[in-house]
Amino acid sequence: MKAKLEEIRSASMKAIESVAEAADLEALRIRYLGKKGELTAVLKQMGSLTPEERPAMGQLANEVRARIEGAISEKAALIREAMLEKKLEAEALDVTIPGKKPSLGHKHPMSVVLDEAKDIFIGMGFTIAEGPEVELTEYDFTRLNIPEGHTVRDWQDTFYITEDEKIHLRCQTSPVQVRVMEKTKPPIRIISPGRVYRKDEVDATHSPMFHQIEGLVVDKGVTMGDLKGTLNALVEKLYGAGTKTRFRPHHFPFTEPSCEVDMQCFACGGAGCRVCKGEGWIELLGAGMVHPKVLEGCGIDPEVYSGFAFGIGVERMTMRRFNIPDLRLIYENDVSFLGQF
Ligand code: PHE
Repeated sequence: MKAKLEEIRSASMKAIESVAEAADLEALRIRYLGKKGELTAVLKQMGSLTPEERPAMGQLANEVRARIEGAISEKAALIREAMLEKKLEAEALDVTIPGKKPSLGHKHPMSVVLDEAKDIFIGMGFTIAEGPEVELTEYDFTRLNIPEGHTVRDWQDTFYITEDEKIHLRCQTSPVQVRVMEKTKPPIRIISPGRVYRKDEVDATHSPMFHQIEGLVVDKGVTMGDLKGTLNALVEKLYGAGTKTRFRPHHFPFTEPSCEVDMQCFACGGAGCRVCKGEGWIELLGAGMVHPKVLEGCGIDPEVYSGFAFGIGVERMTMRRFNIPDLRLIYENDVSFLGQF
């Protein structure tokens, strides 16, 4: 029995020594000290010893048990330490490495331009008015001096909501002029940015949905000179001091006289280049003096008051501002494209 105990001692010491995992160590504990373990099996044979042999053997057995227990707990501590070490290594934090920047989004290029334009107009004393995108045909056409059967309705008329053609998606922000004038008495000085819809096919410069900023100023003694001054201030602020505008005669049913306004090409300064297709000028917007019939229809006396109005395409401004060659890019929401601005 003594020999067996010695054998257990040396075998267990070696085994415990060579173990590296907590689970293996537990298996050894069970193997030697468990209820069905090797040491327990030897102790069960104590009964077969003579009373003289028993104390010495009992003492040896206790010694061996204590050694094994001691070795196991030492080893357990070592394993715990090693695991902690490993974990710390794995989670090592190098405070000298620069942090990862979370990628923040930013304003869409159209919002950038829109916000700039809003700021400029607010700086000139304008307030912002809103009107519905789903509009009464009466406001978008009739009250803007575009009666039924007018040719303008053919190319603009669009996306009807009701079969009687009394409601449609507005094709311009101009109906907001009427909505503001019938509710507010002059002096009026508003802009109204918003979405508009037309039956246009999608291409590099057209979309069935786009954005405009409508402008309206009504007061006593407002002239075309005020319109020019306002639009010059806008393009100088947007495209740089000294940027010139050019007014060409045009026709809109709701303004008289009407004009289209071009700005000097920002790329070539007027010499003619690819951006302006050799013209030196780029079309910017439609504008004019509010037609007396439109004023009258809103209860404003055209003998006392006059006003100017304009409508700017926001996509066009954005494309110009950021040199975007294709309108479709603005709507595709491709982050690798938008991220450039
Ligand atoms: N509503 C016109 C358009 O969409 C632009 C415009 C607005 C013209 C105001 C004159 C006055 O083309």
